Parts: sequence; C-alpha cells; structure tokens
Amino acid sequence: MKVLVTGGAGFIGSSIVDMLIDKNYEVCIIDNMSHGKKENVNNKATFYNMDIRNSKIINIFLKEKPDYVIHEAAQISINNSIKKPLEDAEINILGTINILEACKSVGVKKIIYPASAAIFGEPKYLPIDEKHPLDMISPYGVSKHTVEHYLSVYKELYGIEYVCLRYSNVYGPRQDSSGEGGVVAIFCDKIMKNETPIIYGDGEQIRDFVYVNDVARVNVLALELNKSGIYNVCTNTKTSINKLFKCMKNNFAVDIKPVCVEERTGDIRDSYMSYNKIYDEFGWKPEFNLEEGIRNIKEYMDNNV
Ligand SMILES: NC(=O)c1ccc[n+]([C@@H]2O[C@H](COP(=O)([O-])OP(=O)(O)OC[C@H]3O[C@@H](n4cnc5c(N)ncnc54)[C@H](O)[C@@H]3O)[C@@H](O)[C@H]2O)c1
Repeated sequence: MKVLVTGGAGFIGSSIVDMLIDKNYEVCIIDNMSHGKKENVNNKATFYNMDIRNSKIINIFLKEKPDYVIHEAAQISINNSIKKPLEDAEINILGTINILEACKSVGVKKIIYPASAAIFGEPKYLPIDEKHPLDMISPYGVSKHTVEHYLSVYKELYGIEYVCLRYSNVYGPRQDSSGEGGVVAIFCDKIMKNETPIIYGDGEQIRDFVYVNDVARVNVLALELNKSGIYNVCTNTKTSINKLFKCMKNNFAVDIKPVCVEERTGDIRDSYMSYNKIYDEFGWKPEFNLEEGIRNIKEYMDNNV
C-alpha cells in the first residue's frame, strides 16, 4: 500500500512517515520546505519539493498513484492567518482543494486530515466533544474547519473516504519553537539556552497535551480501519502551564524560574477534549503521559542537539 504524506518534512508529518515506514508502507512526501526540515525527511520515502497550491501536483499523483493521502501540510500560525488571511486561505483551503482534485483524478481511497481545537473558540463546556458548538476566532480556525466540509463533499460526490482528526496541543521531538510553536517546544528552547521562559497570565490555565507518537499512531489506524468521520485526538487530561513547566524543569534538571506577564487578549482560559468517540470506534487512546513524553524529548535533545 502506498501513502502520500503532505507536510512530511514537518513535525507531525515526519513522525507519521517514520511510523508508516516502520510498518512497511511505501511512502512519498510532498513538502515545500517552508517550515519543514531536511533532517526530518525519512530517507526511505520518496521526496517531492512542491507547494500544495501548484497545479503540477497532479503529475506527482499520476506518477505515484497513492492508495491513501495523509494531508498534514498547512499554514499553521494563528498570527500569520490574522496578518495574511488571503495566504492562509490559499494554502489551507485552495491548496487542500488542489490535493483533493488530485486524489479524485487517481482514485485515492481515503484521505486523513488534521483539523484543530482552534475551531471551538472559548469552550462552552468541558471536556470538548465532537458535538461542541464551533466558534472560530481566527482565519486559521475558519480555514481548518472549511476543509472539513470539503472532505464531506468529496466523499458524497466521488466516494473518497475521509477521517478528520481534531488534534488538541501536539508536542514531542522535532517541534519547532520558532514563531508561535507549541509551548512545550518554546519552554524546551528556553531551558536549553538557560533563558527565562515567559508565562502569560498566572499559569493556571488548562491545556490538553497529546504526544506526537500517539498522534502518528492514530493516523495509521485511521488508514487501516474501515471508518470515516470526525474525531477528537487528545488526552482528556487537564494540564496547567505551571504543571507543564514543573515537569520539564524536573526532567531537564534545571533550576530556572519562569516569569509571569499579563495574559494575552484572545487567549482561551481552559481547554481540554474528550477522546471517547475515537476510543469507542478505533480503540485508540493515548499511551504516553506528560512525564513520559517530556522524558522522550529530553532524550531526543541529548542525542540530537
Ligand atoms: N502542532 C499542533 O499542535 C497541531 C494542532 C492541531 C492541528 N495541527 C495541524 O497538523 C498539521 C501539521 O502541523 P505541524 O505542527 O507538524 O506543523 P509543521 O509546520 O511542522 O508541518 C507542516 C509542514 O507543511 C509544510 N508546508 C506548509 N505549507 C506548505 C505548502 N504550501 N506546500 C507544501 N508544504 C507546505 C511545511 O514545510 C511543514 O513541513 C497542520 O495541518 C496543522 O494545522 C497541528
């Protein structure tokens, strides 16, 4: 079976590629390297440096004839989406339609797509389940959610099955700390440089951190199981930013104190999500707790930095 992974040089995409190759799938990658890294690219995968908006992408699909597509490539910054909504929509919406058209042309069986907790806005209740009302507060939220509708339309019109995975906060090795990268990557970077990390607000705000291997595993399961639909991928575990920092401080054995500054306008206070639906239908639940995930990042940093 052949899987085409877009964004396969990025943080989550490269972990998915590694897991697919371990499981003996044939893998090809499309990434324009705008945010990807050469060292993330598995050398057993065929790599194409191309933008998902490029109309020539069809040639890659015709050549490779993938059975499945995992579409991780995206403009991932909420701030960029606010500053450049047109570019966000071009990559996340039009780029995805370009991929869907190519899937249609070569008869791809199924596409797996990562949506985001950014589509819920300030939660109306916790934990957030798949029926939670949507309230997008950034162009990024709108663009990620718009694709959910396109997936459903392409299934109706052309029979392309899809699984849409709404990730909470993904963390793990290879996550980029530049820009507004995940808080774990940012803390990690500060700890390595012996600099003072900043916490916005009192640090008691709650988030839901899911480890990247758990995310990669659910993507592979989504290919293999005869299921279609929208699922949360998360831990249903409440972790405060203070607790996260303490866990990192202990694992990295440093004595750094973060500084708390005024909370940012628009930041959501508490958010965590339920994985009951995907557990019932896929049998998936997270295997890594925060302590194990952070320990793995430390080990990765020791071996690679
Ligand atoms: N990291 C998280 O916590 C999180 C949470 C929810 C959803 N997601 C989604 O998961 C996916 C992967 O995110 P990530 O954190 O691994 O980000 P990432 O930036 O590490 O990976 C994205 C990859 O896509 C590539 N890319 C970007 N624009 C492209 C384009 N126009 N053409 C071709 N390639 C392009 C980048 O070079 C990069 O390698 C994204 O779709 C993101 O929206 C991530």
